[in-house]
Amino acid sequence: MDVLEQEFRQLLIHGHAARPLGLATGRTMEPVYAGLVRRLQGWSGTDRQRLRLVWSSFNLDEYIGLASRDPRSYRAFMDTWLGQPLQLTSSCLRVPDGQAMDPTVAAEDYSRDVQASGGIGLQLLGLGANGHVGFNEPPCGPEQRCHVVTLSEATRHQNASMFGGTPAAVPHQAITLGVAEILAAREIHLVVTGRSKAPILARLLEMQRPDPSLPASWLLEHQRVQLWADAEALSLA
Ligand code: GLP
Repeated sequence: MDVLEQEFRQLLIHGHAARPLGLATGRTMEPVYAGLVRRLQGWSGTDRQRLRLVWSSFNLDEYIGLASRDPRSYRAFMDTWLGQPLQLTSSCLRVPDGQAMDPTVAAEDYSRDVQASGGIGLQLLGLGANGHVGFNEPPCGPEQRCHVVTLSEATRHQNASMFGGTPAAVPHQAITLGVAEILAAREIHLVVTGRSKAPILARLLEMQRPDPSLPASWLLEHQRVQLWADAEALSLA
C-alpha cells in the first residue's frame, strides 16, 4: 500500500508527465483498493482534488458483451472500488471497451492509447489459478499486445462465483492487455493471496525461465517485479 500511495504522490508532483498506472480487477484487488481508498481519503481536500485531475490509469482487461453498468463487468468493478469512493471519472479510469461493435479494433485502439500515454508506469497484477495475468491464457508468448482472447474453461470456472456459480454464464471472450504491454511497464507488482493460488504460485516460484504454459512466468524477464503474497498463497512454496 505504501508503494501505491507513493506512486500517487509522484503523480501529484509530476502530474501528466508521469506514466499511467496499470490496474487489475478480481477478488485479490478488493482489499488492496479498499486500503488505498482509506489512505487517499486521509489526504487533504486540495491534494485529493488535484489527484482527481491528474489520475490516469489503464485496466488490464474486460469481458466482451457485458453492459458497462452490469455489476459483473470490470468497468463496474472499478467504478465501485475506486471511481465512486474517489470521485474519478470513467475517462481517467480507463477499461477496455467490452461493448465495442468490433472488439479487435477496440483492443488495437486501447493498445495505441496505452502507448500514446507513454506506456504503463506501475503495473498491478493478480494471478489466475491457471497462471494467467490479465486474461493472457496459456499457452502465450511475450510479443502479443492488447487483443481479444477466448477464455479457457479453467478461467470461466475460476470466475464463475460472480455469475451465479455457473461457468457457462461467464462470457466466453475478453479483451486483455498483452504480455508485451505488461513487460513494458516500469515496475510490476504481482499480488497473490489465498490457498487456491498456492499450487500455481509454487510452480511459478520454481521456474528458472519463462514458459508459454505459465503466462506469469514471462515476468521473469522483467527487471523490477515485486511479489506480494500472503502465507496461504505461499503455503506450498
Ligand atoms: C481474473 C482477471 C485478472 C485477475 C485474476 C485473478 O480472471 N482477469 O485480471 O487478476 O484473474 O482473479 P482473482 O483475484 O479474483 O483471483
